[in-house]
Amino acid sequence: KKTDNQILTIFGASGDLTERKLIPAVFNLFKRGFLPENYAILGVSRTDFSDEEYRKKVVFDNPHLKASKDNPGELENFAKMVFYQSIDTKAVVDYQLLANRLKTLCNDCHTDQNYIFYLSTPPSLYSVISKNLGEAQLNTEEKGWKRLIVEKPFGYTLESAKELNNQLLESFKEDQIYRIDHYLGKETVQNTLVARFGNTIFEPLWNRIYIEKVEITAAESVGVEKRGGYYDGSGALRDMIQNHLLQLVSLVTMEPPARMDAESIHNEKLKLFRSLRPLTQDDIRDNVIRGQYLNSTIGDKQYPGYREESGVDPESRTETFAALKFYIDNWRWADVPFFVRTGKRLPTRVSEVVIHFKPNHHHLFSQRRIANSQNVLVFRIQPNEGILLKFGLKVPGNGFKVETVNMDFQYDGLTDAYVPEAYERLLLDCMQGDATLYARGDSVIAAWEFVDPILKAWKDDPDLPVYGYPSGTWGPEQANALIENGHGWRNPC
Ligand code: BG6
Repeated sequence: KKTDNQILTIFGASGDLTERKLIPAVFNLFKRGFLPENYAILGVSRTDFSDEEYRKKVVFDNPHLKASKDNPGELENFAKMVFYQSIDTKAVVDYQLLANRLKTLCNDCHTDQNYIFYLSTPPSLYSVISKNLGEAQLNTEEKGWKRLIVEKPFGYTLESAKELNNQLLESFKEDQIYRIDHYLGKETVQNTLVARFGNTIFEPLWNRIYIEKVEITAAESVGVEKRGGYYDGSGALRDMIQNHLLQLVSLVTMEPPARMDAESIHNEKLKLFRSLRPLTQDDIRDNVIRGQYLNSTIGDKQYPGYREESGVDPESRTETFAALKFYIDNWRWADVPFFVRTGKRLPTRVSEVVIHFKPNHHHLFSQRRIANSQNVLVFRIQPNEGILLKFGLKVPGNGFKVETVNMDFQYDGLTDAYVPEAYERLLLDCMQGDATLYARGDSVIAAWEFVDPILKAWKDDPDLPVYGYPSGTWGPEQANALIENGHGWRNPC
């Protein structure tokens, strides 16, 4: 695809995400020859930096940039594209400064007036910035295109997400707005689509007739680290489920799109979100479990409990673990239970989707073994990205003993394949005007519609418990009870 000459403006330029993810992503695109001939990055925030000082901070002193060994001048060459402009993002007058600076950069760097504005600020500034960009005519596409990338969280509740969406739409058109969800940039997340729609052997079985249940886990071994202040106002449901995990659910369950383009995929995802069975008060009580990690000792190391983390209210009821069971009310998935869970300070870092196929109707082989040989397909999102298929085989020798074996494909077996970081892939897509892996406004709202009643119930009903769980475990015991039949969750190590 063609990549036009352009300028990337990053709001929140002195922030953590810029240093850790955004600049490294552009740097990798630069190294791999994916940037257009004329390109510039303009960092924008309130702090006063000269261009040189900013380059030092985000390029030369940035531990997340790795120059190639055989190309020592790489950092210098990249740094030449990086500029900085200090403005007060709340002050509309300052946007004239920004507009002028962009014009000068266009002349100096021979870029066209194609601009991406990346909002990597606190979310309370998203609508202010977009409004001010509009006032300064930085949204008009008479000369060059204009795109706005909006970081998560997209809203805090259903109401605030709707409000934010409307505010953005006052200055930018839907096709100019790119709502980023970095899970969609993960190679293995995209691969769920290829596995389903690029093969003949999976899709015919991808429905209620053959699938018994679907499990999705996103576990992290770390706690909230230095993000206690942010996290305490968010919690696992908002931080992971409303966005990343529901996006994943939609890719695993949506109908085949008519074409592999943004509109067709977004339409299918929206249909899917609208088919999520709304959770009733009883469902929320019985099928949604939340927990908080407790002060624990693992080996000879002591880990603080969530309520002792800095920035966290000592009486906080914010969940660091959430698990839920729900249904999708459509032709394909009627009555198939879905189980989704995520948490911090779990035994390991792993994200995976587990498809459990139904056992055979007629048992020819020993009953005891049949349960073990039930077919399971696992999409391992991270780490050890890959796909695992479990199926039964005869054990050599007398009789018909069945044993479960694994067919295990690992991505790193594709020796020369470079697996780009999620941000790298997503930024390049936006640079090329491809919104397929971004979230459309209506489906973000639809995902909020599903999650919002849980947040309301948790807020309004003090009797709904927050269970404590020891660090290094798979969350509260009550979450295990969600999966019936005694099978429990697949707890990968
Ligand atoms: C972020 C959340 O969006 O995703 C973090 O805010 C979480 O709390 C992270 O740790 C997980 O992303 P990944 O790519 O490490 O699975």
